[in-house]
Amino acid sequence: MTLRTTIRPATVDDMAQVQAIYAHHVRNGTGTFEIEVPDVAEMQRRLAEVQGRNLPFLVTEAHGKIAGYAYANLYRTREAYRFTCEDSVYIDPAFHQQGLGHALLDKLIYLAAANGFKQMIAVIGGSGNAGSIRLHEKHGFVQVGLLPKVGFKFDRWLDSVLMQRSL
Ligand SMILES: CC(C)(COP(=O)(O)OP(=O)(O)OC[C@H]1O[C@@H](n2cnc3c(N)ncnc32)[C@H](O)[C@@H]1OP(=O)(O)O)[C@@H](O)C(=O)NCCC(=O)NCCS
Repeated sequence: MTLRTTIRPATVDDMAQVQAIYAHHVRNGTGTFEIEVPDVAEMQRRLAEVQGRNLPFLVTEAHGKIAGYAYANLYRTREAYRFTCEDSVYIDPAFHQQGLGHALLDKLIYLAAANGFKQMIAVIGGSGNAGSIRLHEKHGFVQVGLLPKVGFKFDRWLDSVLMQRSL
């Protein structure tokens, strides 16, 4: 049976569920280089920052709960980077590999372009992050760099894979 999902802009009230999804990935994955789990208030601060920069923050719902989220934020804050954004996509592990990442990234790219952004960068944690690398390849990102051993998490050194597409 096909999973019925909807995508909509995130609200401040969504951040408790968003924080729970992110907490799983901080604790168990290398997709993020954060090690301490940010609290709900911090996720609300991040939402406000993204929205204040005219960038999209989206959630996808399935079976009446938030199953994943994606947002774009500035790649760097120095002013000449103002047309370049960086995407982030996180899916609840119960909903992995059911097309939610595809659907969120598709809409995120559309909205960031519509808001005037010209380049999107993916900073992917770990060379072995096959899901994220595949997801971005399918949306036209190409690898533009690899920073070897710049992260240290779970007692091992981690690469950062840089992928980019124009909008
Ligand atoms: C990466 C992530 C967002 C993918 O989300 P998803 O909803 O499971 O992905 P989708 O079902 O839309 O699949 C996207 C593509 O990646 C592939 N894929 C997904 N997970 C995969 C995995 N673990 N290994 C290999 N390929 C994978 C899918 O097969 C699909 O490719 P296809 O269209 O050629 O079949 C999800 O695994 C996740 O939340 N990972 C942890 C956090 C992370 O690393 N986020 C990226 C930070 S930028």
